[in-house]
Amino acid sequence: MQGRSSFLIVANRLPVDRVGGDMWRRSPGGLVTAIAPVLQGRAGAWIGWHGAPDEKLEPFEHDGMQLIPVPLSGPEVELYYEGFSNATLWPLYHDVVAPPTYSRVTWEAYRTVNERFARAAAEEAAENAVVWIQDYQLQLVPAMLRKLRPDLRIGFFLHIPFPPGELFYQLPWRREILEGLLGADLVGFQRPGGASNFIRLCRRLLGLQHHKHEIQVDDRIVRARAFPISVDFSELDSLVREPHIIERAKEIRAELGDPECMLLGVDRLDYTKGIGQRLKAFGELLTEGSIKPGEAAFVQIATPSRERVEEYMRLRDSIELQVGRINGEQGEFGQQPVQYMHQSYGRDELAALYLAADVMVVTPLRDGMNLVAKEYISCRNDLRGALVLSEFAGAADELRQAFMVNPYDVDGLKRAMLAAMRATPHDLSRRMRSLRRRVATYDVDRWAREFLDALES
Ligand code: ADP
Ligand code: F6P
Repeated sequence: MQGRSSFLIVANRLPVDRVGGDMWRRSPGGLVTAIAPVLQGRAGAWIGWHGAPDEKLEPFEHDGMQLIPVPLSGPEVELYYEGFSNATLWPLYHDVVAPPTYSRVTWEAYRTVNERFARAAAEEAAENAVVWIQDYQLQLVPAMLRKLRPDLRIGFFLHIPFPPGELFYQLPWRREILEGLLGADLVGFQRPGGASNFIRLCRRLLGLQHHKHEIQVDDRIVRARAFPISVDFSELDSLVREPHIIERAKEIRAELGDPECMLLGVDRLDYTKGIGQRLKAFGELLTEGSIKPGEAAFVQIATPSRERVEEYMRLRDSIELQVGRINGEQGEFGQQPVQYMHQSYGRDELAALYLAADVMVVTPLRDGMNLVAKEYISCRNDLRGALVLSEFAGAADELRQAFMVNPYDVDGLKRAMLAAMRATPHDLSRRMRSLRRRVATYDVDRWAREFLDALES
């Protein structure tokens, strides 16, 4: 079994979803944002699901990328994707901010689908190829693939946090997950804490010896290290210099009634993102009169996500209730303090929104990295704009000049939002200059190069 590609990305999703006929839409989330430019810059292929159930599609080319669809049946979407990936692993790896479900049926589906991805990769990879497996949906693939193709160089990157033993121990299949990951030569994490959680668990649960980042697995060495992911800084930096984006940013502010201050949230509608917490803080600032009516507009863009998973349905109801309450109590005819959009937007519109916003509010309760924060910084070459950032986002390690917050502390959140709104231009430019230096230096290309150099060395 041997194929043509010497470089392969394997991820749950392809960078585009099929939305009927020959129509494709960019898939949601940070993984696609980060990996698409990496593949576009190298010859290779991307193996993943195309977002619709019960369809077997032929490989195709899109936007300079060779894409190889892996089919999922309707029940597999429910059990493997919505079930084990997003009702078990997702909440477990995000501090159990929602209760994970543990089901043997969804675990079986996870194994079956991981096996299918491993076979697809084994068929497509050329001899000695580099295969880079992505994220929590495919943690068993490294070991399955190694068994089928021991000649390959296998890397794995986890885009979400890797939890400490106190939480990971809950998982009935904890050994299998660790053994699956150990099939890779290099396992990458967002933060050093994730890598050390993993190494510690390999010692405690599997009795493996390690030296610093190197774990001894039989006669192989597996390395586990942090590689903080990033964005395409220069692409965004150039995009926001284009006249049509600058014009659109002005238009957005005018459409909002030219408020003194525009606050912005951009997230998948996910319970880890702390959307309810930031709205509560904003609502209280209005109620108690710290923000005067008409002084500030809060724009919350919430991309639809995992809409059939119960916790996500509950979240949507609760956010929409909260928005309705604030607008009902604090709004006036023709003026609503919160603009809430449950929609996806293109790159240009997002860039214009980033450029228009005085305060970007990023308040996850836990987040692997959070690329929205880095996108905002990349778009602010005017050195204006303030970033309010949760301590619980991976990005907090690097972006120390943001207005840092504990999203569980509503009063602290209110203080940080006010401080960001009232900061002097001098303070803002000092902070933004330093934030931009960091993101410009550690962009997505550098992230990918460091990971792949480490994998190939
Ligand atoms: P996650 O991977 O959990 O979704 P990130 O913040 O790391 O979170 O990445 C989210 C990505 O999705 C960013 O690239 C962001 O620009 C994009 N995105 C978020 N909301 C929207 C939206 N409403 N429309 C289009 N893209 C969005
Ligand atoms: O890293 C976060 C992540 O879960 C990616 O794995 C995923 O592609 C993205 O967010 C969006 O989620 P989903 O693929 O479930 O729509």
